[in-house]
Amino acid sequence: MIDVTTPGYRLQRSAPLRALNTFGIEATAPLLVEIDDAQALPALAAQGLLGDARAPTLVLGGGSNVLFAGDPAAPLLRLRGARIAVLGERDGQVRVRAEAGAGWHALVEWTLAQGLGGLENLALIPGTVGAAPIQNIGAYGVEVGERVAAVEVFDRLAGDFLRLDRADCAFAYRDSRFKRAPDREIVVAVEFLLSRHAPPDIAYAGVAEELAAMGVAAATPADVAAAVCRLRRRKLPDPARIGNAGSFFKNPLVPAAQAEALAAAHPGLPVFPAAADALRKLSAAWLIDACGWKGHRDGDAGVSAAHALVLVNHGAARGAELLGLARRIRDSVAARFGVALEPEPRIVGAAW
Ligand code: FAD
Ligand code: EPU
Repeated sequence: MIDVTTPGYRLQRSAPLRALNTFGIEATAPLLVEIDDAQALPALAAQGLLGDARAPTLVLGGGSNVLFAGDPAAPLLRLRGARIAVLGERDGQVRVRAEAGAGWHALVEWTLAQGLGGLENLALIPGTVGAAPIQNIGAYGVEVGERVAAVEVFDRLAGDFLRLDRADCAFAYRDSRFKRAPDREIVVAVEFLLSRHAPPDIAYAGVAEELAAMGVAAATPADVAAAVCRLRRRKLPDPARIGNAGSFFKNPLVPAAQAEALAAAHPGLPVFPAAADALRKLSAAWLIDACGWKGHRDGDAGVSAAHALVLVNHGAARGAELLGLARRIRDSVAARFGVALEPEPRIVGAAW
């Protein structure tokens, strides 16, 4: 293994990845490039350190939404710059800019400490600020795209920095322009539009009940964040204790008529509205649970006993084993319900 330390960035050949993904999967990157200042990107691109069109560098944040089903063929890039700053304020609307390497939950806590609301429902989601727009992270009734003013990227094909307004990002449920064209645009910073006065959103099932259990009557954004943290700690396995990447599948969007027919045939199936009137969102957890997978284990690859949507690594599972289990779950749900499950994490080193 060769370690080269250069001002502004570090290169590591044959870099071990186990500590860099929350599944805790063993994998090796041919090259790991870590940079402190995104301004170094054009120079790195010119040196060929961002890969080429055939094998572009894969950007890795906190590794909480990737499954290394094999070794990555391309170099990995990590952006470590983590500055957070207020850009401006008008009528209680505050623009905050955070660099890609900042921790997501650290940003949420920082905004709450400044008295700013808007990100509280997204408390405790693992990972980095730079990854948040990629799948438009969402939880407890809020998607990050609703709070994004702009995303700053380095476009590796153009070799230049771009500032994309929210409307350019094509945010949708667990989707964005970045997710559709992975590795083309490197997110270097995100600008958020937050509020000093807007009342928090507590409409999502369970949030008001949790606040009541906490004895909170008129909830502040910080109270909502605390309630969301309590709900999340109860429901989701902690990657520090058992390797996982949160929900392994997206909740499927199906035509309304199909959702109605399924709900009639399977009382109890949760059906939620979707952004498009003609579609409904089904609960992937319920479908998987109904097929008997919850708590299932093949060696060290398993399905969480706490939540049917979470695949877990009990210790030494290989990425390919988790991928094999995910495919069997997909096939059983398709056979029983006629619904196609799509993975949420990025699968590296194999096709879905
Ligand atoms: P990584 O896993 O490192 O990368 C994810 C993807 O983003 C990859 O395709 C990567 O190439 C790309 N990427 C990362 N950084 C950049 C960048 N700077 N520029 C361009 N591309 C980039 N997600 C939710 O939406 N809601 C939840 O409630 C939620 N709960 C979770 C709970 C647990 C316990 C876990 C383990 C995960 C959960 N997730 C959730 C998934 C995950 O936390 C998010 O997707 C998060 O945004 C991933 O951040 P990361 O930095 O770890 O990204
Ligand atoms: N359910 C089961 N069995 C289970 C777990 C859940 O049947 O083992 C059913 C229950 O009926 C429950 C429903 O599924 O009411 C929904 O479960 P939950 O409230 O846990 O939400 P989810 O749809 O499983 C989604 C996101 C989470 C996000 C939560 C809270 C997706 C794919 N997942 O989970 O995001 O935190 O809502 O908003 O949209 C992630 O993306 O990694 C993630 C954890």
